[in-house]
Amino acid sequence: MRTVYVNGDYLPENDAKISIFDRGFLMADGVYEVTSVLDGKLIDFDGHAVRLERSLNELEMRSPVTKDELLAIHRRLVKVNEIEDGLVYLQITRGSNGDRDFVFPDADTNPTLVLFTQRKSKPDDSPAALKGIKVISIEDVRWGRRDIKTIQLLYPSMGKMMAKNAGVDDAWMTEDGYVTEGTSNNAYIVKGNKIITRGLSNDILHGITRAAVLRFAREAQMEVEERNFTIEEAKEADEAFITSATMFVTPVVELDGATLGDGTPGRVAPRLREIYLEESRKAAV
Ligand code: PDD
Repeated sequence: MRTVYVNGDYLPENDAKISIFDRGFLMADGVYEVTSVLDGKLIDFDGHAVRLERSLNELEMRSPVTKDELLAIHRRLVKVNEIEDGLVYLQITRGSNGDRDFVFPDADTNPTLVLFTQRKSKPDDSPAALKGIKVISIEDVRWGRRDIKTIQLLYPSMGKMMAKNAGVDDAWMTEDGYVTEGTSNNAYIVKGNKIITRGLSNDILHGITRAAVLRFAREAQMEVEERNFTIEEAKEADEAFITSATMFVTPVVELDGATLGDGTPGRVAPRLREIYLEESRKAAV
C-alpha cells in the first residue's frame, strides 16, 4: 500500500480522507502538478514549483507550504514508496468551510494539499517512443484560461475516450482551425530542420517539458518557430511529436488517419527525446 501525503500527514492511502465539502470535489476549484521521477530523482522540480505558484496566484489561492517544504515532501514520498521511475502528483484545492457555496470561502480557509506517487516503467525503450503514437483531432471546447493548471480535466478525459474509441492513442485539440495542444501534452510539427509549435498565451498550458525541449533544440542549432499551425499543415509535415512530464518527447506518426512522414518516429523527435532524458537526468534532484 502506498504512503500518501494529506495536509501535513503521511498516511497509508486507505486512511487518507478529504471533506465531501472540499471545493476541489464540488467545484474543481484547485490546481495540480505532475513531476516525473527518473532513477529516484525529480525531473524539472523547479519549473513545476514556479508554475504551481503562478496557477495559485491567478486563482487567488495560496500554498500551505513553502517551495523547500514541497521539495522535502516530494522527496520523502519518492523514498518511502521506493519509486525508481514514475511520478509525483500534487494537488492544492481551496479547501472547504463546511458547506456548498459558489462564493469563495474566507481567505483564511485552509487549502487542501494532497500528494501521491505513481510507479512507471523506465522510459528509455517505451513502445510509444519506439513506434510513435497515433492521434485524432477534436474541437477544443475548454475554458479560456488553459494556462492555469486546474483540475478541471473532464474535457481532456473525454478527448482521450474519443481517441480510444477511434482506436488511436490521443487527441490534438483545435480552435478556429488551429491546433492548441494535446489532451495532456504540447503539440509540435517538424519541417526540415524547423520545429513549429504554438506560442504561449492563455490558450495553452505553458509546458515545463516544452520550455526545456525548446531550449535544448535551440542549443542543438535547430530552428524553433512559435506560431499557430493547422491540421492540414501538420499532415504535410516531416514529423510531429508531443511533450509532457509523463511522455517526455514522444513521436506522433499518424494524424486523423494520415501517415506522417514515412510513418516512423523520424529523426528530430527521437533525438530530442534522447537529449531531454539525458540532460534532465543530469539536472534531476
Ligand atoms: N499534463 N498541456 C496540457 C493540457 C497538459 O495537461 C500538460 C501536462 C501539458 C504538458 O505540460 P508539462 O510539460 O509541464 O507536463 C500540456 C500532465 C502531465 C497531466 O495532466 O498528467
